[in-house]
Amino acid sequence: MVDSSPDEREWVTPPESFVETANVTAADCEAFREAGWPECWERPADLLDWDRSFDSVLDDEGTTRWFPGGRLNASYNCVDRHVEAGRGGETAISWEGKLGETRTYSYRELADEVNAFAAALREMGVGEDDVVTLYLPMIPELPVAMLACARIGAPHSVVFAGFSADALATRLAGTESEYLVTCDGYYRRGAALDLKSRADNACVSVDHAVEQVVVNRLDDDPAAGDHRAYADLVADHAGAEIEPVSREADDLLFLIYTSGTTGEPTLVRHTTGGYLTHVAWTSHAVLDLGPEDTHWCSADVGWITGHSYAVYGPLALGATTVLYEGTPDHPETDRLWEIIERNEVDVFYTAPTSIRAFMKWGEQHPESHDLSSLRLLGTVGEPIDETAWHWYRDHVGDGECPVVDTWWQTETGGIVLSTLPGVDRMRPGAVGKSLPGIETDVVDELGESAPPGESGQLVVTRPWPGMARSLCEGSGWGARRTRTVDGEWQYATGDNAVRDEDGYVHLLGRADDVLKVSDRRLSTTEIESAIVGVEGVAEAAVVVGEDADAVRKSEIHAFVSPESNVAGDDALRGRVREAVEEAIGPIAAPDVVTFTPSLPKTRSGKVVRRYLAAIANGEDLGDTSALRNPEVVGELESLLDR
Ligand code: WT7
Repeated sequence: MVDSSPDEREWVTPPESFVETANVTAADCEAFREAGWPECWERPADLLDWDRSFDSVLDDEGTTRWFPGGRLNASYNCVDRHVEAGRGGETAISWEGKLGETRTYSYRELADEVNAFAAALREMGVGEDDVVTLYLPMIPELPVAMLACARIGAPHSVVFAGFSADALATRLAGTESEYLVTCDGYYRRGAALDLKSRADNACVSVDHAVEQVVVNRLDDDPAAGDHRAYADLVADHAGAEIEPVSREADDLLFLIYTSGTTGEPTLVRHTTGGYLTHVAWTSHAVLDLGPEDTHWCSADVGWITGHSYAVYGPLALGATTVLYEGTPDHPETDRLWEIIERNEVDVFYTAPTSIRAFMKWGEQHPESHDLSSLRLLGTVGEPIDETAWHWYRDHVGDGECPVVDTWWQTETGGIVLSTLPGVDRMRPGAVGKSLPGIETDVVDELGESAPPGESGQLVVTRPWPGMARSLCEGSGWGARRTRTVDGEWQYATGDNAVRDEDGYVHLLGRADDVLKVSDRRLSTTEIESAIVGVEGVAEAAVVVGEDADAVRKSEIHAFVSPESNVAGDDALRGRVREAVEEAIGPIAAPDVVTFTPSLPKTRSGKVVRRYLAAIANGEDLGDTSALRNPEVVGELESLLDR
């Protein structure tokens, strides 16, 4: 899979013009090395304004704490300090709404609305450390509300607007959140979707009372009901000035749910000082952003990527962030290029699944637009193959832009592995090495370093500032942080990887029961438990299969075994899909549902998903004699006609 013969490997060097002006140079990396870990993280922390400087960089006795003694406010760092520096007139957010509608917020305007909404939240009774849930699509009110929460020290919990009422209810209950900011509805491919009724359904199924604020996105008249209207709240508090609450570095900035290996979504908590340092530094060093730049991270703010690189990272650096409400192919497949051209975007950060879609639509679309403002491209979320990498650089980056392939996770807060665009050579298909100040390894089952060319699990071997707080504490580490033979600690990422002779890491996919369906992260068990909840279903197992046109790369394939007197027909298939949509959302609904009298199991009764994945992908199964019911795989293969 990875060619380790030196002659066959390809290097791409960043253009001289980029290297000359890059934020981070080879000399900076050297200084990082000289400072040593963890002291090397002092300089990145200087990108922020601290109310009180930290006593030390790291306290790693017992609970891990970054920047102990330090105090700061994220909203101050992302908004006020740029206004104070005389940059209030410059654009903070450039929003591209449905069908050509646009809105721009200068840093001054952003400050005004953040202050007004923070005042409104306070008046509603939101206090420091109260969790505020934000269930909003890609509209400017989402970052405004995030920053308003940060201003008053109330951790936000953003729930992706595509999630179902059930998924929202689980998250409201799990965080004991008594405040919900949502909207009446939003547009998707030109059609209006009702979000408010989903929010209402979620609120009634939560045990505690939830107070709602509703942004008006669809109508001019605020919908009647038992809630407050965002527009009224902001108007009533116009001109308010709310002193940013000075938070300890270790205090929570936000909570976010992700899919883990269990049937329940996993709650991840991020801190103020460590997280903000990490995302500001990586936005500066990897995305090469500065105050003059316009950055577009195309990820939804409902996911961690949008938190870190559409909101906190670029705004902490005083850049302009582009926010897009729509889909890349509506109304036309050149929509993104048109937005890049009009906004003169400098840095574009997207996912391989989107790049594969752009390839399919054709290079004539990016090539019919003036994309010369672009100077750096980034990708994240899943492995990118060499063909897509080159297509991206050639047709979007004019054959010149460096491309950074960045590896990270919800738990890491920000980028962990990547090349530095002004320092390192790039190798298409590999993410590169870990960033300065971060140490990773690829290890075998015993936690020992795997030699080049041999696959193992990617682990992080030392704490890093963006690490989720759950990983800092004994309990959180318990599951994921294991002691190796010689007593060292490691954070097991759940990803398989292999290093080549040059130390560049190539990602091979998940090692656990987390599914990556394109760049979205879902849990096998979560989907399966929704399916077995359907009447007439006895058992189910889901795997990822390669999709037919290879654009999404991966599709969810469910193997479902109905109860003995129940027919596996289209009606049941429909109920299976509906159940998953209801429990999680349409993104998790199986693309293929195959009925089978039983699932392949070991003699001890464990479902062997490996065989199901091989069947879904038409691969060779090898020896199946260790199964309790080997005949079932043969039946399944003939059923799928592969
Ligand atoms: C998983 C994390 C998008 C970052 C935040 C998404 C996969 C992420 C890469 C990459 C190969 C990647 C991993 C990881 N992943 N970036 N550049 N190359 N795989 O965070 O939803 O928590 O997903 O995304 O499997 O574990 P997430």
